[in-house]
Amino acid sequence: MKKPQNKAQNTYTFITGASSGIGQATAFELAKKKSCLILTARRIDRLKKIQKQCIDLGAKDVLIFKLDVQKNAEVAKLASEIKKKKLQVKNLVNNAGLAKGVELFQNSKAEDWNEMLDTNVKGVLNVTRELLPSIIQNKGHIINMGSVAGRLVYEGGTVYCATKFAVRAISDALRMDLKGTGVRVSNIEPGMVNTEFSVVRLGNQQKAEAVYSDMMPLTAMDIANTILWCLAQPPHVNISELVIYPTDQASVGQVVRGERSVGYLTKN
Ligand SMILES: NC(=O)c1ccc[n+]([C@@H]2O[C@H](COP(=O)([O-])OP(=O)(O)OC[C@H]3O[C@@H](n4cnc5c(N)ncnc54)[C@H](OP(=O)(O)O)[C@@H]3O)[C@@H](O)[C@H]2O)c1
Repeated sequence: MKKPQNKAQNTYTFITGASSGIGQATAFELAKKKSCLILTARRIDRLKKIQKQCIDLGAKDVLIFKLDVQKNAEVAKLASEIKKKKLQVKNLVNNAGLAKGVELFQNSKAEDWNEMLDTNVKGVLNVTRELLPSIIQNKGHIINMGSVAGRLVYEGGTVYCATKFAVRAISDALRMDLKGTGVRVSNIEPGMVNTEFSVVRLGNQQKAEAVYSDMMPLTAMDIANTILWCLAQPPHVNISELVIYPTDQASVGQVVRGERSVGYLTKN
């Protein structure tokens, strides 16, 4: 008689905003570790290319879905599709997010606030709630993408900072609500990272390039590596929050450029 095979079911890491920057880099780094991935974003054309790259890098399985995290019904539909396919989501990287504009609040636009609040705050809530049954079942890990803007405010950042303060509050409160389930919650709080973030915020490439001129920002890969490090800790260790600045940024608004930049200092 054939022995029944003990087939451990694959568990997936679900990443929002995987079409660019930190989300994309996290997908690539997890792919190198032979992970099973569910990659989501609004730009499906980009996800198709990233899916192929992840497979080439060694991912065990890569599924892609077009998803706008602002839309609760869309998130719920995807979660039920995942459930129907009997896929087990263990880890969630709530990375999708954006800033729009740097105007003083008195000159800011309500449509920009809505997009930031709906993506950065409600998006995290929408996706987390829908995937939680599977995450709890698998004693998984929720990684929320906060920011140093969730610890310190700055001029022109009223709404973006408010969203990232909210993400920090959500992470801390979720950790309380989930105590005793084995689920871990980490809030990752980067300073300046050179991604498409500033292009989206400022609306053009030239202005975005000026943000990182003559200094050495973090790369998306730097943050992906911190996410992988959090995920790699043993089950009894929960990295609750992690603040990562580039060496050239001492705090919010405290940036050195030119001859005082680490890029210059390490070459000379
Ligand atoms: N770069 C920084 O300096 C920095 C610093 C601290 C924190 N962060 C945070 O890091 C996260 C990732 O940003 P990034 O720097 O990697 O910027 P990015 O390159 O612009 O990536 C942002 C990602 O979010 C996705 N996204 C935006 N709105 C979405 C929506 N409604 N639904 C689904 N996906 C959406 C985008 O995909 P689609 O457009 O294809 O949907 C894209 O994949 C954000 O939460 C950001 O606030 C960034």
